[in-house]
Amino acid sequence: MTTPDYAEKIPNNVSLHEDRRLQRALESWQPDFLSWWQTMGPTLPTQDVYLRTAINVGREGWAHFGHVPMHEYRWGIFLADRNPDRTIAFGQHKGEPAWQKVPGEYRADLRRLIVIQGDTEPASVEQQRNLGATAPSLYDLRNLFQVNVEEGRHLWAMVYLLQAYFGREGREEAEELLHRNSGSEDAPRILGAFNEETPDWLSFFMFTYFTDRDGKYQLGTLKESAFDPLSRTCEFMLKEEAHHMFVGTTGIDRVVERTAQVMAENDTDEVAAFGAIPLDVIQKYLNFHYSVSLDLFGGETSTNVANYFTAGLKGRWMEERRKDDHVLGDDSIMVDALIDGEIGQTEVAALTGLNTDLRREYIDDCRGGVTRWNRILEKAGLPQRLALPHQAFNRKVGAFAGIEASPSGQRLSAGEWERRKGEWLPTDTDKTFVRSLMKPVYERGKIAAWLAPPRNGINGKPFEYDYVHLA
Ligand SMILES: [Fe+2]
Ligand SMILES: [Fe+2]
Repeated sequence: MTTPDYAEKIPNNVSLHEDRRLQRALESWQPDFLSWWQTMGPTLPTQDVYLRTAINVGREGWAHFGHVPMHEYRWGIFLADRNPDRTIAFGQHKGEPAWQKVPGEYRADLRRLIVIQGDTEPASVEQQRNLGATAPSLYDLRNLFQVNVEEGRHLWAMVYLLQAYFGREGREEAEELLHRNSGSEDAPRILGAFNEETPDWLSFFMFTYFTDRDGKYQLGTLKESAFDPLSRTCEFMLKEEAHHMFVGTTGIDRVVERTAQVMAENDTDEVAAFGAIPLDVIQKYLNFHYSVSLDLFGGETSTNVANYFTAGLKGRWMEERRKDDHVLGDDSIMVDALIDGEIGQTEVAALTGLNTDLRREYIDDCRGGVTRWNRILEKAGLPQRLALPHQAFNRKVGAFAGIEASPSGQRLSAGEWERRKGEWLPTDTDKTFVRSLMKPVYERGKIAAWLAPPRNGINGKPFEYDYVHLA
């Protein structure tokens, strides 16, 4: 089960050759995927890139590294190993064997969940397609392309489920996933944050830290699903996702490190003149990406999500580690709310508050990044600190969508927000400045001035390694 078959047109560990119908369906989708990659994927022409490819889904050594032309990347279908004894961990079917087929009554809901997840994967490739033109080093360029090919593979992962388990409707959805495009007027991507552009590398690092991390939590809930093929698919995707977040975490580390260094050396906050990114601009980018990523978790309460949980379609983060009955019939939770127009909290049934539960797990995780970046500032002997803005700040979804609030959580009038938002969110001037720093550095071992080099290269290779051969 664990060893993908690379002799096949579509590498897989699901014995695709035993299901001719499915194999033909996927083989006819493959050219559409490739033409999507050619038209909507990375724009920078390359000969080859030092990429990892999955060769085994097990814990040890699942990845192979080598220089490959990107359009020849071996996108394939890899599910984590099946546990034949797996039972459902939560909801009304708790204790029953996990499903190997889709129960008719949950077909529409499961398809919807898979389509929404699937839609984000190619969306991020589209959002990042022009970044190759301004990479700060070959190391960073390689990481960008690694993220891109793996998001492409995540699309394959979802399309496999659609084609294998959802019949004609699944095949139609698989086509639609290639027809919607990030930022398109007529056919945009489903979720708002995936229609924003990722125009510069600071945005890319923030995106991979905050928005890929949202993906981690969404995949975490689907990994708990009673529908076993979905669970196993998401389990393996989470392994790939870890690298995407590593790119974000260490990317921001390196930006902060460089800024702190220039601040300390020159005893000034005004580092723009030295070609580094001022700390307050970094904070504004952080504010933006964090707040739009909070929106991705949906409203504070949701009866749909309560129903998904009870049905066994989507669990909680780390469901099996939770110390409760995993049914949540009588439990309650405090969720954010507007109370008489003021920022407050209200008690609701735990089941309807599951979006809040997941968002809180995510927020705790995000705090870890801020702590590490502040440690870098502290080490440089600087008193300044970065912070996560309040949950009411810049929200378009949920209880606080209708109000304005400062990053410290102070309620503001519309007029005051308009006057002051440039202090907290990137202004056109900030964006133009950041963009002005985005000059490509394609020479081996060289790096742009606005960020520090990484501590280590990829797969034991040095920073100076020839990670990418340009065309
Ligand atoms: Fe992904
Ligand atoms: Fe990702």
